[in-house]
Amino acid sequence: MGEIISYMERKVEAKGLNPYALPREKDVLKYLFEDEAKNLELLNEISPFNLAVSKPHLFYPGSGSDILFPMLYLDRLFPTLNEINMTFVDLEDSIGMIKCVLDEVGVSFEENTKSPNNNFNNSEIIFFWNKKKVHLQFVTGDIFELISNLPAFDIYFEKAFRIMKDSDPDYEKKVLAKLNINGILISDSGFAELPLQKIAVSTELSAYGEMIMGVKK
Ligand SMILES: C[S@@+](CC[C@H](N)C(=O)[O-])C[C@H]1O[C@@H](n2cnc3c(N)ncnc32)[C@H](O)[C@@H]1O
Repeated sequence: MGEIISYMERKVEAKGLNPYALPREKDVLKYLFEDEAKNLELLNEISPFNLAVSKPHLFYPGSGSDILFPMLYLDRLFPTLNEINMTFVDLEDSIGMIKCVLDEVGVSFEENTKSPNNNFNNSEIIFFWNKKKVHLQFVTGDIFELISNLPAFDIYFEKAFRIMKDSDPDYEKKVLAKLNINGILISDSGFAELPLQKIAVSTELSAYGEMIMGVKK
């Protein structure tokens, strides 16, 4: 029988910043398909990345409510990172569901609605994930319209967005233009023809069989 993962949004109170509220593995696993969870072990075959910036900016288009995959990738690929800014963009406002997922896995967050230090003046949520301090702003909008106005980023993360990219044949080039030098691109589709220093990575990490990780030189 196929597995089903159900997402039920409910109102979640911000319980505040708590570096000791670690994600509970058993609850994280409830949000992953068995093969996805197993495939994450393939990330252990990759040498961790070292970024020159101490507080990098990660960008994730078409994130939906997927907070877990970027965090699980960061745990494995950037284990020394202490703090990160993240911008998620989606057509659907999914921040409520993201808060719910964080709460369900035991991670406590704070909301900063007054003085967020980000380009879209959006409110942000701040939380600790396995000792990393994360500042997450969620932008509701169309990435193909917003991409040109986005600030540059150090990490590009993409998952399950292949079909959407068909609507803009230059989208991947625009992404590369926004990625800082020595920045890391992680995507489960595309980018094969672009000038990146590619890292050997198992294609099993991608549902499309075309996983790519690369450094912009
Ligand atoms: C297949 S889902 C993938 C969600 C998430 N990345 C994951 O792996 O669970 C694709 C997401 O892209 C979003 N999306 C589609 N077109 C978009 C656009 N033009 N700009 C931003 N988000 C878009 C959808 O709302 C949806 O959340």
